[in-house]
Amino acid sequence: MSATSTALRQLPADLNRDALPKHVAVIMDGNGRWAQKRKLPRIMGHHRGADTLHDLVLCCKDWGIESLTVYAFSTENWRRPEKEVNFLMLLIEQMLRREMRFMEEEEVRLRVVGNVAALPKALRKEVEESMERTAHFKSLNFNVATNYGGRQEIVQACQAIATQVQAGQLAPGEITEQHFEQVLYTAGATDPDLLIRTSGEMRVSNFLLWQLAYSEFYVTDTLWPDFDREEFHKALVAYQDRDRRYGKVTGSAI
Ligand code: FPP
Repeated sequence: MSATSTALRQLPADLNRDALPKHVAVIMDGNGRWAQKRKLPRIMGHHRGADTLHDLVLCCKDWGIESLTVYAFSTENWRRPEKEVNFLMLLIEQMLRREMRFMEEEEVRLRVVGNVAALPKALRKEVEESMERTAHFKSLNFNVATNYGGRQEIVQACQAIATQVQAGQLAPGEITEQHFEQVLYTAGATDPDLLIRTSGEMRVSNFLLWQLAYSEFYVTDTLWPDFDREEFHKALVAYQDRDRRYGKVTGSAI
C-alpha cells in the first residue's frame, strides 16, 4: 500500500460522514485499454482490475459506505472472444475463493446478482459457498453483478409476478413497485445513491435499469485499474455537491 493510500485509510476531512452515499454502484470499465496502452494482453487489465476492486471494497468499509455493487460480467459480455470470457469466469471464481478469508476478516457480506444458474458449474459452486459463508456479515454489502443484464432482470421479474397472478396469489391491479422489487435479483437491497463509471463512456450499458432511477451519475476518464482511493474521494466530493431533488423543487422556487 502506498504512503498516500495509507493516509487515506480514514475518511478524508472534506467529506461529510452524514451525507455519504449509502450505496455505490460501479461500472468498472477500461481494463482492456489500460492493458493495450502498456502493450500487455487485455487479461492483464482484468487482473489489475481485480486488485483495484479489492482496494475499493476495503475503502468502502474503512469510510463507512454500507453497500457496493460492481458490474463484473454482463449478459452481453458472452459475445467477447471465448478466451477472454473463460478468463473472466476463472478470475471471478478465483477471486471468490482467494478473497474469502479477507471477506470473513473484514465481515463483508457477498452477494452475486444475475443469472447465476447459467454460470459454469465451478463458478456457481463458489458463488453459493461464498454467499452462504458471508450471509451473516454486516460491515459492507458487496454485490457482484455477474451474468447480469438489466432488461433480463426485469423480464424475469415479470415472469415471477405473472406466475403469482396465475396462481391466484395476486390480482394484476394489486401489483406495486414493492412487489416488483421483491422479485428482482437485488431484492432486499437499497437502490444505489451514486453510480460511478470509469473510462469516460457516458452509457448505462444495461446495468441496474430499475434501481438507478434516482441515482447520481459520476463519470471519470480514469481507467478502472487506476481508480484508487484518491479517485473515489473525488467521486464522493462531486456527489456531496449534488442537489438530489427526486422530482421536487428546492427552496422557495416557483
Ligand atoms: C470492462 O473493461 C471490464 C469488464 C468487462 C470486466 C470487469 C472485471 C473486472 C474488473 C475483474 C475483476 C472483477 C471480479 C469480480 C474478479 P473492458 O474490458 O470493457 O475495457 P475496454 O473498454 O478498455 O476494452
